Amino acid sequence: GLPFLVKIPALVASFVFLFCLEACLWVRNFRLKRRLPGPFAWPVVGNAMQLGQMPHITFAKLAKKYGNVYQIRLGCSDIVVLNGDRAIREALILHSTEFAGRPNFVSFQAVSGGKSMTFTNYSKQWKMHRKIAQSTIRAFSSANSQTKKAFEQQVVAEATELVEIFLKLSAQGQYFNPAHELTVAAANVICALCFGKRYGHDDVEFRALLQKLDKFGETIGAGSLVDVMPWLQSFPNPVRSMFNNFKDLNQEFFGFVHNKVEEHRDTFDPEVTRDMSDAIIGVIDKVDSDNGLTKGHTEGTVSDLIGAGLDTVSTAIHWILLLLAKHPEIQTKLHELLDKVVGRNRLPSVDDRSSLAYLDAFIYETMRFTSFVPITIPHSTTSDVTIEGLHIPKDTVVFINQWSVNHEPPEGSLDKDLTNNVMIFSAGKRRCIGNQIAKVEIFLFFAILLHQCSFEKSAHEDLSLNCTYGLTLKPLNYKITATLRGELLKAVWSQQSSNLPRLIYLPMC
Ligand code: HEM
Ligand SMILES: *[C@@H]1O[C@H](CO)[C@@H](O)[C@H](O)[C@H]1NC(C)=O
Ligand SMILES: *[C@@H]1O[C@H](CO)[C@@H](O)[C@H](O)[C@H]1NC(C)=O
Repeated sequence: GLPFLVKIPALVASFVFLFCLEACLWVRNFRLKRRLPGPFAWPVVGNAMQLGQMPHITFAKLAKKYGNVYQIRLGCSDIVVLNGDRAIREALILHSTEFAGRPNFVSFQAVSGGKSMTFTNYSKQWKMHRKIAQSTIRAFSSANSQTKKAFEQQVVAEATELVEIFLKLSAQGQYFNPAHELTVAAANVICALCFGKRYGHDDVEFRALLQKLDKFGETIGAGSLVDVMPWLQSFPNPVRSMFNNFKDLNQEFFGFVHNKVEEHRDTFDPEVTRDMSDAIIGVIDKVDSDNGLTKGHTEGTVSDLIGAGLDTVSTAIHWILLLLAKHPEIQTKLHELLDKVVGRNRLPSVDDRSSLAYLDAFIYETMRFTSFVPITIPHSTTSDVTIEGLHIPKDTVVFINQWSVNHEPPEGSLDKDLTNNVMIFSAGKRRCIGNQIAKVEIFLFFAILLHQCSFEKSAHEDLSLNCTYGLTLKPLNYKITATLRGELLKAVWSQQSSNLPRLIYLPMC
């Protein structure tokens, strides 16, 4: 009998252990009502080690196994991942309010002096803030034919300058990487709108600032560990240094914006709206209201607009140039179309857009194929909600996998116009407010660069489509050369500045 007696404590211990495990799982299920499907989450790190280099692709693979709505755990956060057109539209459009929140991530609080609209949770004040940002963009880009023209001319001038810079960088058949010049060009468009001022491509300080901002998306992109493993902040490690750099670059960028806005405050004239900064000062600084927005939100709005309009637009053109150089046969077709529709004596304009549908198709296909904003800025649920029959509790972080929508096999006929089905500006209450100006900008840059130049890769470089991951996917370093096609056409800047919109700003109309 002795061997049996020895086994009893071990047996009891095993039972106790199993019972506890069951109890823990039961309590957890109870808390989350019906637990969402998803991969097993390891202690401490959760699924952080499984994300890989390209989390959006991992998420799409997991959707094949667990369905379009599932849960992962990153560090100490449960996160719901939404994939595919149906689930994402059900969430963002049918349940727009429930999915309009943002999580209270520490990295979000470092943006725009904590007064960002983009990185703020859903609230009455946020609604007002977003409305102001939205109507400011409209007032300076599409409110009437005069502002439309002024905006367009500004982009044209920036694009023709870019052509000259590319040609200089290509002197004697040299190859160059266009990334940085594209950032300066996109920054100039939005800075001209915001401050009535553009910067030279050789402005060292401005270039340095933009170079730092380039890293912004790496920390803020979905799957970044800064926000889900707070304990990583307590000892030196790569995540902590990345976060410290992130805080520094936000502080420097916000300082830059703050100085510009202060200059505007000093010279503010309620009768004359010089630019977006004036318009926003006029609404937030000068109008007493009970919406809770304070002076700091003025800078917050301006820095949101500059930040959002910079990386996205330049990354779009960056991909377009890469794909043009990679597919010379398509480039030739586009050249022929431009020469037929526009001719060689003038530059393409927005009015040509309807006759240049193949250009727009190329832009949309670039957006679909690269899905260069693969996952939106993280959302958070503002109340309990059910998607595809699955319960998601209030205050859950939600990743919206736009890439998965653009890489689903198309339903029905392939002839169908797919351009409206590209998801890159998100949808619902948090959808991008700059999509209209982004489309005009990208079209004009693309059309003018292509009308003026041909782009070629070097014979021994096989252009790779690999990229770096972050809020935006950026192509790896590649080199191209530009050759002038025919005569160089210029747009004149001096004529442009007298055309800046001088409108009295009526915010809520
Ligand atoms: C090709 C260019 C662009 C793309 C692909 C793009 C895409 C996006 C995406 C995916 C979001 C996040 C939506 C979400 O969280 O669900 C967003 C938000 C936003 N975008 Fe854009 N964007 C572009 C250009 C611009 C431009 C030019 C501006 C303004 C000048 C702008 C202003 C904003 C703002 C302010 C938000 C925050 C909205 C909010 O949180 O309520 N974007 N954009
Ligand atoms: C966001 O705001 C909603 C109210 O609109 C609130 O219920 C929710 O708890 C907030 N979420 C976070 C993460 O702070
Ligand atoms: C691109 O990615 C593929 C597979 O992901 C890899 O095999 C290849 O080496 C990468 N190319 C470059 C240039 O990094």
